[in-house]
Amino acid sequence: MSTALVTGGAVRLGRAMVLHLAERGYDIALHYGTSEESAEQTADSARAQGVCCEIYSADFTDFDAMAPLMDRVLSDFDSLNLLVNSAANFIQESLEATSDSALIDTININLTAPFVLMREYKKKVNGGLIINILDERISRRVPTFGAYSVSKSALAHLTELSAVEWGATVRVNGIAPGLILPPAGQTDEYLTKNAPNIPTQTHGNLSDILRGLDYLIDSPFVNGEILFIDGGESKKR
Ligand SMILES: NC(=O)c1ccc[n+]([C@@H]2O[C@H](COP(=O)([O-])OP(=O)(O)OC[C@H]3O[C@@H](n4cnc5c(N)ncnc54)[C@H](OP(=O)(O)O)[C@@H]3O)[C@@H](O)[C@H]2O)c1
Repeated sequence: MSTALVTGGAVRLGRAMVLHLAERGYDIALHYGTSEESAEQTADSARAQGVCCEIYSADFTDFDAMAPLMDRVLSDFDSLNLLVNSAANFIQESLEATSDSALIDTININLTAPFVLMREYKKKVNGGLIINILDERISRRVPTFGAYSVSKSALAHLTELSAVEWGATVRVNGIAPGLILPPAGQTDEYLTKNAPNIPTQTHGNLSDILRGLDYLIDSPFVNGEILFIDGGESKKR
């Protein structure tokens, strides 16, 4: 039996990945920040597929909560085979308007937490696969998401660097989604409004990301790859 730790696994894209991995037979360690009720509901749906699912809260704005998360998971499960770093914030601010707290939180949640979890995974698991969820913006220069873009670009660099350093035992890859879900709190109108800006003239769906996840899991010679699932948006520089 394989086990996956998915951060930000209670809602939206993280939830879809949790349920898909459960369908594939993975036991699940589901991390969440504040969405406790959703985490419990998602865990129940995962368990309905016959796998074990435990939930773990950790606030990634708190550095001291990061490494202990891995220890909590490894005390419940014998080992891990997959770490998916999906938790992130998504703050829309220009560089000039970025507040100190938004900068610190964004770097902590989107970069430092994945870094620490990856390091702990390498030290304590030293096998299997890490997948970092990035953003197609890493290949463009979109000034309205300053700290977010910087954090995701650095995570992409970390993905490639760790793939080189750790490839003998741990593969590390990334998925860079484009327009898949509307930002939290917005409706699907956001997707239809923005789809014409994409080369395919369409938005993507959760199933597109899940196919990418399957590809990275099932491809043992793929390491250090960043899979853009974005209808070609990242190529519009
Ligand atoms: N949606 C898209 O179309 C799209 C496009 C490009 C990239 N992405 C990337 O794909 C991933 C998932 O996207 P999404 O839209 O599903 O994200 P989302 O709705 O913004 O959810 C992000 C997750 O991060 C967790 N999180 C936020 N702040 C946290 C904190 N301080 N401590 C711990 N956890 C925290 C949240 O947990 P709680 O709810 O439990 O607090 C939530 O589950 C993200 O990495 C995002 O950057 C998404």
